[in-house]
Amino acid sequence: MDRKDIIICKDLHVELTTAIEAVQPDKVFVLTDTTTCDCCWPQIEHLPILHDATMITIPPTDEAKTLDTLATVWTALGEGGATRHSLLINLGGGMVTDLGGFAASTFKRGIAYINIPTTLLSMVDAAVGGKTAINFRGLKNEIGVFNESCTVLLDTRFLTTLDAHNICSGYAEMLKHGLISDMDHLAELLRYDLTEPDFSALQGMVARSVEVKEHIVEQDPREQGMRKALNLGHTVGHAFESLALAEGRTVLHGYAVAWGMVCELYLSAVRCQFPQSLLRQVLQFVKQHYGQFIITCREYEQLYGYMTHDKKNTAGSINFTLLSDVGQIHINQTATKDEIYEMLDFYRENI
Ligand code: GLY
Repeated sequence: MDRKDIIICKDLHVELTTAIEAVQPDKVFVLTDTTTCDCCWPQIEHLPILHDATMITIPPTDEAKTLDTLATVWTALGEGGATRHSLLINLGGGMVTDLGGFAASTFKRGIAYINIPTTLLSMVDAAVGGKTAINFRGLKNEIGVFNESCTVLLDTRFLTTLDAHNICSGYAEMLKHGLISDMDHLAELLRYDLTEPDFSALQGMVARSVEVKEHIVEQDPREQGMRKALNLGHTVGHAFESLALAEGRTVLHGYAVAWGMVCELYLSAVRCQFPQSLLRQVLQFVKQHYGQFIITCREYEQLYGYMTHDKKNTAGSINFTLLSDVGQIHINQTATKDEIYEMLDFYRENI
């Protein structure tokens, strides 16, 4: 994606109008979920360029990220008279931008779409980098395509309506971007007071964070190599999410990633000599802001099973992204079952 296409908004109205004019669509559709329809759509609905836009609204939770919901979006586009020259604007969190991006990418073999992410998680991750998806047969993001939006408009004013848990959830992906980039950025992130978020300072950090992701995606848009850096914390994080799902516990994605990063930094220290002092700093930060996802050693086998079934694996070995230092990335790493159990011991004893 061209740099100019990710815009840190100064004036969303002006920037959105310009982005729509650049596409010159014959019709504009706006996809929201029921929450963003109430909270975010009112901020742009009066724009003259959206006067004739057709609204499509879907349920707000990840459970609705399904083929059925996708079909309702395709149907609404079809019934609303969308052509290959129409535009879909996705206004919402990762569920809306993932599903909307997939709907746009497949309708009439692909129409243009613009992402306006409204959560921190979607601003720094989901809405950027062209991954689109729905869940299928109980598997998260199982069906989708890589296809960039025309423009991503990042307006951090939407964040002021988010609750503290959703801020923390998105912040975990920012912490990941700090770990895979450089010490200055990581230090800035570890210093930030997440308990009393200063939204103007956060705007600069979001811009920096998105730059880290964008730089990696530019080099490897289809995750053949370097994009796997963005999977730091996710092998264990996804296993925690799967365990939570199986046990009926609720876990936000970023929380699972934060706990997963602690585990994978421990593994990084064991296998790649990641500095112990940094491991401890990140551990303290995660412990303070994310608390603990409680596991017992009776659940190790199940967690190990989830890791072996992760879709990032090849040929039966578990695939980790590890670090030897901040910004020193080692993709396609693996670990023995004993090392993974020791990692889970470390997690249980220290967090
Ligand atoms: N969420 C990781 C990626 O976009 O590759």
